[in-house]
Amino acid sequence: MCGIVGYTGKGPAVELVVRGLEKLEYRGYDSAGVAFLLGGKLRVVRAVGRVEDLRRKLPPEAAAATSAIGHTRWATHGRPSELNAHPHSDGAGNFAVVHNGIIENYARLREDLQRQGCVFTSETDTEVAAHLISRLHEACGDLPRAVERAIGMIEGTFAFAVLSTHYPGRLAATRRGSPLVAGFGQGEMLVASDALPILPTTHDVYYLKDDQVLDVEPGGARLKGEAVAPSDHIHWSAEEAERGGYEHFMLKEIHEQPAALRKLASKLIEDPGAPGDPGGFPRFRLDEMRVTAEDLRKATRVVVVAQGTSYHAGLIARNMIERTARLPVQVEYGSDFRYRDPIVDPGVLVLGISQSGETADTLGAVRLAKERGCRTVSVLNVQGSTMARESDGCVPMHVGPEIGVASTKAFTGQIAALYVLAIHLGVVRGVLTAPEARRRVDDLLQVPQRIDEALAQAAHVREIALKYKDAEHALYLGRGTGFPLALEGALKLKEVSYIHAEGIDAAEMKHGPIALIDEKMPVFVLALQGRRYEKIVSNIQEVKARGGRVIAIASHDDREIAARVDDVIRVHDDRGIMNSIVCSIPLQLIAYHIAVGLGRDVDKPRNLAKSVTVE
Ligand code: F6R
Repeated sequence: MCGIVGYTGKGPAVELVVRGLEKLEYRGYDSAGVAFLLGGKLRVVRAVGRVEDLRRKLPPEAAAATSAIGHTRWATHGRPSELNAHPHSDGAGNFAVVHNGIIENYARLREDLQRQGCVFTSETDTEVAAHLISRLHEACGDLPRAVERAIGMIEGTFAFAVLSTHYPGRLAATRRGSPLVAGFGQGEMLVASDALPILPTTHDVYYLKDDQVLDVEPGGARLKGEAVAPSDHIHWSAEEAERGGYEHFMLKEIHEQPAALRKLASKLIEDPGAPGDPGGFPRFRLDEMRVTAEDLRKATRVVVVAQGTSYHAGLIARNMIERTARLPVQVEYGSDFRYRDPIVDPGVLVLGISQSGETADTLGAVRLAKERGCRTVSVLNVQGSTMARESDGCVPMHVGPEIGVASTKAFTGQIAALYVLAIHLGVVRGVLTAPEARRRVDDLLQVPQRIDEALAQAAHVREIALKYKDAEHALYLGRGTGFPLALEGALKLKEVSYIHAEGIDAAEMKHGPIALIDEKMPVFVLALQGRRYEKIVSNIQEVKARGGRVIAIASHDDREIAARVDDVIRVHDDRGIMNSIVCSIPLQLIAYHIAVGLGRDVDKPRNLAKSVTVE
């Protein structure tokens, strides 16, 4: 969703802001713009399309500006156009504003301002903020105070950065609901929607809290006149956020999974337990979870809240937690949970799963659960994110920044982190014996190697993917944990290739979807050996009998499958739930190679935003 970058210091502000916007491109956007001060005047340049289109429109004199704000816009109010692109300014051209979020009462505010003589030039809700701040500034003569008064009148969610001709070298920054972080360099300061644009300059940051108005100058920042110190040090390196020789971030992140999961395991598993020692339970590093063993023992139920890919990880977590801890698990879209008056009580442990930690619907569900007295734990990748701060505790995934819009390493990281949590729950609740817990930890430690083996077949998977790239539709079938994987495989394909795909519980085929099968329909089947294998084989036969083309993801040692299907992709099958991670690799590669084969922009698929900060 929309991205904000602001800079003030001695450097070339416009160039630094534009570079920052490039780092935020992954969030999804359709237009971009910058505002800067030159000779005491506000200059605004905006462009529809990519940041590179904006760069081409910048006048040479922009290089002299030392403070600037910039924005990538993901259209909500008003179509993508130059007029609707941010920054927006007040009529006199003294205040420029960039905004991420939605001003819910903008229509009423706009009418009021129009009555006072303000003339609007765009269809956006944001322009209201520019006029409002300007009006309020006339009355109080102070930038942070005017911003504070404006946000007192605004309903909805926002992050704003404000630049004004009255305050050269200063920026105001504020947020409610949408993320905003300030970076402290040496004689230079940045504000941004996330840490990535800040990392090349500094790792010392301050995450703004709701309704705080930060007064930013090159030498530091103040809140209500008091100096603010950095609150966090970011551990991600700037290089981790680069493509590092890969054609796309998505491909890089697919290939990073072995290393990412090794890191996750090393961070979350303190001691895998001594083999042969019947009392030797594994020990985990889950101190950030901030839920006592007593609370975990007393929990009556787990409710998972998540959206999209994270929801699919939640469905896999249900199987894990029910098996390891014998605790009932309910998996919910946060978007539905939060508006349904859900039946929860303080005995319920609520798990929020979110790569970004900023997804508005998941965050809303976690907040509601907290209000109802539940313990809330979030499984997250982004340190300092809003969910990290608002949940009682969190389980960090440590898989490094995920830039590709289609989630890959964060999905497998979620599964792995949730497995650690599930084993921990099983141990604490006395369900797992030490050898059982150790065996599960060993399975997890084995996964990076299994992913390496799956990646070694990337060329074979690519060949198969290209065979099916011209399909208009595709189905993904699975049973048990294969079902959430089918959902995830279909989601990946839809997102990056724009081919219509559906994930279906294979048992449901006979209840309707089998009508879709014809000789043009590729059907990807999660067909690993296990309790449901015979049933999956029956589903495959039903599809084949109707002319469908079946691509099976099968166990390395399945000798019969090849004769039953059109194509086989094999993965090493350790007969455990960690297969869900291993099977994800070919699903990701299929989506990636089909999308590349079709010439799609896989890292920035159309209409999608990486961080969905509005409902
Ligand atoms: C799909 C994808 C999305 C996200 C969803 C939730 O590849 O990335 O479906 O999983 O928008 O995002 P987070 O995990 O940040 O809450």
